[in-house]
Amino acid sequence: MNRPRPTAAIYPGSFDPITHGHEDIARRALAVADRLIVAVARTSTHDKHGLFGLEERVALIGEVFSDERRIEVCSFEGLLVDFARTQEARIVVRGLRAVSDFEYELQMAQMNQELWPELETIFLVPEARYSFISASLVREVASLGGDVSSFVSPAVLERLEAKLRQA
Ligand code: PNS
Repeated sequence: MNRPRPTAAIYPGSFDPITHGHEDIARRALAVADRLIVAVARTSTHDKHGLFGLEERVALIGEVFSDERRIEVCSFEGLLVDFARTQEARIVVRGLRAVSDFEYELQMAQMNQELWPELETIFLVPEARYSFISASLVREVASLGGDVSSFVSPAVLERLEAKLRQA
């Protein structure tokens, strides 16, 4: 008897750094996928001023999900649709925190659909207590001396503090 193939999904983003909001979305995605690939993009549609290097972001995500073998992490270059094809994944997961996210997310989802019609984007909603968290705000608050310990995992906090001490 043929077993159904495991469903693979990709959760792409900048993850600079990974926050509790991202973690929540990734763990929720396991309700619809057997295998989740957290994919750190070298190129983001948002032109951002980054803090962590690509490999650092990948390493931090690996630490955060070290308890969950269904979640893998890697980086990718180029188009998300091309990366998804190489992974044989037809589901892209994105988090929606607020209406303000919607326009950008819809545009990306439809562009990706145009580039590869078989790719489905699904949107998941984080727990309300994480809705206001963004990686860019975490970077800003931390760089100005604010306490971000309730927004990121201890491993991320440690690296964030070390990074800002160097700066
Ligand atoms: O966390 P972000 O920065 O909002 O994530 C955006 C990301 C990385 C998912 C998007 O920019 C992306 O898919 N980049 C890869 C290049 C690509 O495929 N661009 C066309 C997107 S429609």
